[in-house]
Amino acid sequence: MASLEARNLYKTYESRDGAVTALEDVSLKVTDSEFVAILGPSGCGKSTLLRILDGLTPPDRGEVLMDGKPVERPTQERGFVFQSFNLFPWRTARGNIEFGMELKGVPKSERRSAAARLIGLVGLNGFDGKYPHELSGGMQQRVGIARALAIDPAVLLMDEPFGALDAQTREDMQDELLRIWATAKKTVIFVTHSIEEAIYLSDRVIIMTPRPGRILASLDIPFERPRSEAHRTRAEFSALRHEIYSRLKNVR
Ligand SMILES: Nc1ncnc2c1ncn2[C@@H]1O[C@H](COP(=O)(O)OP(=O)(O)O)[C@@H](O)[C@H]1O
Ligand SMILES: [Mg+2]
Repeated sequence: MASLEARNLYKTYESRDGAVTALEDVSLKVTDSEFVAILGPSGCGKSTLLRILDGLTPPDRGEVLMDGKPVERPTQERGFVFQSFNLFPWRTARGNIEFGMELKGVPKSERRSAAARLIGLVGLNGFDGKYPHELSGGMQQRVGIARALAIDPAVLLMDEPFGALDAQTREDMQDELLRIWATAKKTVIFVTHSIEEAIYLSDRVIIMTPRPGRILASLDIPFERPRSEAHRTRAEFSALRHEIYSRLKNVR
């Protein structure tokens, strides 16, 4: 069981140019094993929302509940995947993946076998001894995903994880993520500004307004799983893409 609920979140940042309201009365509920995409224009508060859901940033008002209990700081119940990979450059792929388990005090032999399993799961067999600079962007992000999965979180929070990848690698990573999600059964909240990526991956797409970020709509994605390339060319896929595009455009 892992549900995550945000209730009436507000967040304003103070900056040199004055106050910036990033979130205004944002509420949402994500249920167990659901894959939810959050879509919105740049600067609308998506990262802020994800960081608050993780407990990395406190809201000014409102609360986050995981399985009914308040979220106040990052814990091992949630894994976070960053857009910029954020790997430790002085650690190998395996060392990065083992990091959270070390903090948790998992014994070395157990860490090794868990890391080996995750390296296989994200398709990095043979690369466990490589340092981040020896890996492509797609491979680094696979390490980022494995690292987040290593602590066996119930919820995976992903902030534009494929934004820095080229189109082909990005599509490969989407399929990889769906395969992992189907195997590991996590609740996923996936931030993106790609309409197509949001539809392809998720059970539900949440659309945010430009700053201050509010929830504009929540759309169910009716496509069966497993998803495949053929979904992208369906008429219903284009219709959904068009609908979401129009909604985003009309609030600008
Ligand atoms: N630490 C911060 N200090 C001041 N302003 C911030 C900070 N973080 C984000 N902001 C501002 O809040 C708004 C929302 O940012 P963010 O949540 O990163 O949006 P998104 O992820 O949708 O692009 C932006 O205008 C951004 O400049
Ligand atoms: Mg962001």
